Amino acid sequence: MQRLGIVTGANRGIGFEVCRQLARLDYCVLLTSRDAAKGGISAQMLAEEGLPILFHQLDVTDEASIAALRKFVVGKYGCVVNISSTMGQHAQMRDMSAAYRLSKDALNALTQMIANSIHGKDILVNACCPRWVRTEIGGSHATRSLEEGADTIVWLATLPSGGPSGGFFKDKERIEW
Ligand SMILES: NC(=O)c1ccc[n+]([C@@H]2O[C@H](COP(=O)([O-])OP(=O)(O)OC[C@H]3O[C@@H](n4cnc5c(N)ncnc54)[C@H](OP(=O)(O)O)[C@@H]3O)[C@@H](O)[C@H]2O)c1
Repeated sequence: MQRLGIVTGANRGIGFEVCRQLARLDYCVLLTSRDAAKGGISAQMLAEEGLPILFHQLDVTDEASIAALRKFVVGKYGCVVNISSTMGQHAQMRDMSAAYRLSKDALNALTQMIANSIHGKDILVNACCPRWVRTEIGGSHATRSLEEGADTIVWLATLPSGGPSGGFFKDKERIEW
């Protein structure tokens, strides 16, 4: 059975590249974005590369939008990958970019909560840091390409059944929270 990959915030940046890499691995990819027009254009760009991409609108801050996507995917899942950052790592806490650091710390906690609460089901939930990637957030001086930034994310999204869950990863290695 073909596996489904759902990517949030995928109209640009790392999410867009994750869609491309999953589609090349023969996943059925659902590219989502909060702006339907932007997402449609991005899905079309990948379709023109010969990749089979579906599109669905999703604003992760809008409950109605989340419910609509849930209807579409209920009964599927497998692997959840939360894109975090080492800026949310406890050992790295500073007062610079406080809101961003706290949001990633909360995402890391959420990753552990969900992984623990669904333990025993065949769903793996992990967080990872893509490192410093050349995107709108990362800026043009970042050290990593989109392909490199997507690498660990795609690896976690394609883990086989029984793989690690409830972990924080960088460069395919487990790291401290
Ligand atoms: N780049 C780095 O160096 C780096 C390092 C560590 C971690 N990260 C993490 O990697 C993830 C992806 O970042 P990126 O570098 O690829 O950034 P990006 O190029 O700025 O892309 C961010 C994406 O998130 C979407 N988005 C924003 N708010 C949303 C919402 N409410 N609902 C749905 N989508 C929303 C944006 O959509 P719009 O186009 O509509 O705004 C865009 O598609 C982020 O979580 C970031 O914190 C990045």
